Amino acid sequence: MNRTAADKLAVAAQEAARNAYAPYSKFKVGAAVMTDKGIFSGCNVENSSYGLTTCAERVAVFKAVSEGAKVVKAVAVFATSPQSKIPNPKSKIGLPFPCGACLQVINEFGENPDIILSNGERTEFYRLKDLLPNGFRLKK
Ligand code: THU
Repeated sequence: MNRTAADKLAVAAQEAARNAYAPYSKFKVGAAVMTDKGIFSGCNVENSSYGLTTCAERVAVFKAVSEGAKVVKAVAVFATSPQSKIPNPKSKIGLPFPCGACLQVINEFGENPDIILSNGERTEFYRLKDLLPNGFRLKK
């Protein structure tokens, strides 16, 4: 995907983070997915029963699929670095890498989509296979 489209998706992820419901972790995450039906965004939604929390990436993918999208072409994830829980915002691990569960969910709907990660200070570009080289797939 080109730079302009990636920037647009990253902005959508940043805007979505404002709606994050994260009163327990205080870690606000936003995600946006570019699909065959356009852009869908999501935020993390926590719960008093902590294990029921859903990550921003999965909310965005499920919103897209439930609205009829079939293919995820790119995913942007945003979490702020100032006051955030990300360690070392200037280092590689200071980016909001999607968790393993979200990578597997993205894998279901995309053929090696672009993954754009930003923390307000830095943005890095990956492909799904960089982060999940051997995603699980069943024959349809
Ligand atoms: N979180 C995400 O939204 N995406 C990830 O990839 C990792 C974690 C959220 C879940 C929870 O609300 C908070 O971050 C702390 O784990």
